[in-house]
Amino acid sequence: MYRDTPDPWHLAERWYERRKYDLTVASLPLPRYRRAFEPACSVGELTVRLAERCDRVVACDRVESAVATARSRTSALPHVEVHAMTIPGQWPPGRFDLVVLSELLYYFDTPTLRSVLDLAVDALEPGGTLVTAHWNHAVPDHHGTGSTIARTVGSVPGLTLTADHRETDFVLQVYERTSPDGTAAPSPAAREGLV
Ligand SMILES: C[S@@+](CC[C@H](N)C(=O)[O-])C[C@H]1O[C@@H](n2cnc3c(N)ncnc32)[C@H](O)[C@@H]1O
Repeated sequence: MYRDTPDPWHLAERWYERRKYDLTVASLPLPRYRRAFEPACSVGELTVRLAERCDRVVACDRVESAVATARSRTSALPHVEVHAMTIPGQWPPGRFDLVVLSELLYYFDTPTLRSVLDLAVDALEPGGTLVTAHWNHAVPDHHGTGSTIARTVGSVPGLTLTADHRETDFVLQVYERTSPDGTAAPSPAAREGLV
């Protein structure tokens, strides 16, 4: 898809995408994150938005030209690094308090999807945030729609669903990495003493 154009999905142009990225970032329960991982960053449009909320962003894509575009898009942001990396075979070291799996999971067959989700859970600190977004229409190359992928993510041990935004076109969900003692992190309102 990248052979003929640097941005095959027009991610930098479409209002649909801008709105979805804004919703994605707005759904993050914490004002700031220490270190985020965003695989499949494509041309870096969501990456620049995440960079406003994170001290460090590790982004990657499997396609070199997308990595080059994302690097150029984030060149003024020294706290963002963009790698050529294909998950789940490649995965960055260290732990994260935010993992963003946006418009990616439907590319994986069921066993590979489970590996990706297991890696994401293992990489998340207890109480860390996992955000997922998936196109919700059937596509011949996709292994499921937003609704079916969301069911799989929801069955993964170690994750607690905290936000579930459903639209005709996409499903956007936020999960918390469950703490070993089972205690839930305080909600955004609780953090500010409102409840
Ligand atoms: C539809 S774009 C999504 C871009 C961005 N995440 C977003 O939400 O707009 C899908 C991207 O996933 C990348 N991709 C697909 N499989 C991948 C994998 N196994 N590892 C890393 N990137 C992958 C593709 O190269 C493409 O750039």
